[in-house]
Amino acid sequence: MSNSPVYDGNGKLIKVGDDLRHIAFIMDGNGRWAKARGRSRAYGHTEGAKVFEKIVDYCGKIGIKYVTVYAFSTENWKRPKREVDKIMSLLERYIERLFERYSEYDVRVKFIGTKDGLSEKLIEKMERAEKVTEKNPRILNIALNYGSREEIVSAFNRLIQKGYVNITEEDIQKELYTASCPDPDLIVRTAGEERLSNFLLWQAAYSELYFTDTLWPDLAAEDVERAVSEYYRRTRRYGGL
Ligand code: IPE
Ligand code: IPE
Ligand code: MG
Repeated sequence: MSNSPVYDGNGKLIKVGDDLRHIAFIMDGNGRWAKARGRSRAYGHTEGAKVFEKIVDYCGKIGIKYVTVYAFSTENWKRPKREVDKIMSLLERYIERLFERYSEYDVRVKFIGTKDGLSEKLIEKMERAEKVTEKNPRILNIALNYGSREEIVSAFNRLIQKGYVNITEEDIQKELYTASCPDPDLIVRTAGEERLSNFLLWQAAYSELYFTDTLWPDLAAEDVERAVSEYYRRTRRYGGL
């Protein structure tokens, strides 16, 4: 057990320390990436989906146990239907590939967010994906139709239904979609926007935030490595000294 990361002789990251368990990504900039190439936003999402798989693999390679990705927010329904459909179909495609080659996946997939508004077909696949990957060692939370305020409100409503009168932080924590998962140690957002956009508001209380101008489809292992080095330059005080 060591909290220090391991680097090879050339300064390349081999393994993170044990204190960096959970990285969350706000995958932003697919549209701008496509626009810069004179292509459709849909193309940006297609390329972004490929990068999502590469980054998840890389995180496994460097020993990250929990990865969370923000794929679709409860506010993203405001986008044109065509674009929403494209994102949903890419998610379906990802799940289908997972079924075809599930022995190659080492992630246990969990979907976080509400099912409201999702198609029956997609919901059925999401549930099956969770089932077939159930025994895998690493956790991949896919935030799909996720909004932190919705998550907190529905947690409160469940507590009310259960008859709680005085609630504690632990009670709330146990009702969140991420109940079984430690809070993110590091949140990485691409594409230069420096905000959380309704992502893990409760869980991010003491997360380290890392922003990069790199657009999501351009994100590479080296960028994650940079975020990890930055993480190790920070001192997490949690209000102490
Ligand atoms: C992130 O890229 C993907 C989703 C929000 C689904 P965007 O689609 O937000 O790309 P930009 O921010 O418009 O460039
Ligand atoms: C956040 O990106 C949501 C996801 C990455 C899924 P947005 O592109 O929707 O965020 P805003 O609108 O710029 O805040
Ligand atoms: Mg965006």
